[in-house]
Amino acid sequence: MSTPDLLSLAPVVPVVVVESVDQAVPVARALVAGGLPVIELTLRTPVALDAIRAIAAEVPEIAVGAGTVTTPDLAKAAKDAGATFLVSPGATPRLMDAMLDTELPFLPGTATVSEVIAVLEYGVTQMKFFPAEPSGGTAYLGSLPTVVPSARFCPTGGIRAASAPDYLALPNVGCVGGSWLTPKAALDAGDWDAVTRLAAEAAALG
Ligand code: 3PG
Repeated sequence: MSTPDLLSLAPVVPVVVVESVDQAVPVARALVAGGLPVIELTLRTPVALDAIRAIAAEVPEIAVGAGTVTTPDLAKAAKDAGATFLVSPGATPRLMDAMLDTELPFLPGTATVSEVIAVLEYGVTQMKFFPAEPSGGTAYLGSLPTVVPSARFCPTGGIRAASAPDYLALPNVGCVGGSWLTPKAALDAGDWDAVTRLAAEAAALG
């Protein structure tokens, strides 16, 4: 991805947890079939890096990113596995430096005004707002443009199909993230049609 505009890839970034590497390629294809050309694979399971590798090799039409990047080592490992973007739940100076070092586009996690300002100090204006619902949701995000007008967000955490439109209506929100498109039950059952249906509903929010 040469243009690092992560917030414009799709109205909803699917946040995906895979327990088996065999789920990776079918779930990516199901999301593409539903109209979502982006997937954030969370680095929360032992197979996550292999899953990124498989998607990067076999589903070139999707932008595959790594989520839950919490250490410099994970940032580097994700890039080496073929991730084309990174997402972190929080942003320490060490983690910011490591993500910048990868030269990949990335969304650092923020939840407070001080954290937003700290990220802006690096010249990074696109960020994740996490965990969105417990951190104040649309009321909190809606109060930020007056004080940090250059910051643009992908809120994630507790957002579902019903609440996504309220977030997407905010001027400082480019997309939302969420795991509701890829329920564990659907992945375990190999119900890829269900994933495609949920993805299509989400794509229609754009
Ligand atoms: C994330 O990693 O961004 C969150 O786990 C996604 O939150 P959700 O599962 O509530 O959508």
